[in-house]
Amino acid sequence: MNDALARAESLIDLTPDYPEPGVLFRDISPLLADARALRDVCEALAEPFRGRFDIVGGIEARGFLLAGYVAAVAGVGVLPIRKAGKLPKPAAAVSYELEYGSAAIEAPGVLQPGERVLLLDDVLATGGTLAAAQQLIRDLGAEVAGSAVVLELSDLGGRAHVGDVHTLFTARES
Ligand code: PRP
Repeated sequence: MNDALARAESLIDLTPDYPEPGVLFRDISPLLADARALRDVCEALAEPFRGRFDIVGGIEARGFLLAGYVAAVAGVGVLPIRKAGKLPKPAAAVSYELEYGSAAIEAPGVLQPGERVLLLDDVLATGGTLAAAQQLIRDLGAEVAGSAVVLELSDLGGRAHVGDVHTLFTARES
């Protein structure tokens, strides 16, 4: 890892026992708030996929911020992938299991058939969220151009559920 990414990784904030006992929550908010780290991370997330995507799918909530930055730099648009119940006209929905609880995600009907979507999120834990987002894109008749996350929690096995995923940082769950 280069010095710029090591600096960005050092900005990730750790909170023990949040949102429930035994979970070590990793918050990229300080990284997002730092202009250099935000740039370095977004450039590194998109680098393997340069020229190979038509739109960036951001997974709620921190994935929105990464997607907005990457899309603006690449000159493409953003697909907001939202938690269930937030969109007036969801075009597709997929349910999934979280590290703690279960949920569903939805997307608006804005993709063209075959459009290549780069999916971005902050954390890969169990992989349920990213796998659901990949399914959502396919259900909408579009194509997953790639998936990238800032931080992979390697001992939760999420990678096994999401195929090839580009991750910048790796950590144990706790
Ligand atoms: C976190 C994170 C990922 C997801 C990863 O989101 O931002 O989207 O969990 O977990 P998984 O790999 O086990 O599915 P969270 O549901 O906490 O929502 P938030 O981003 O709105 O805080």
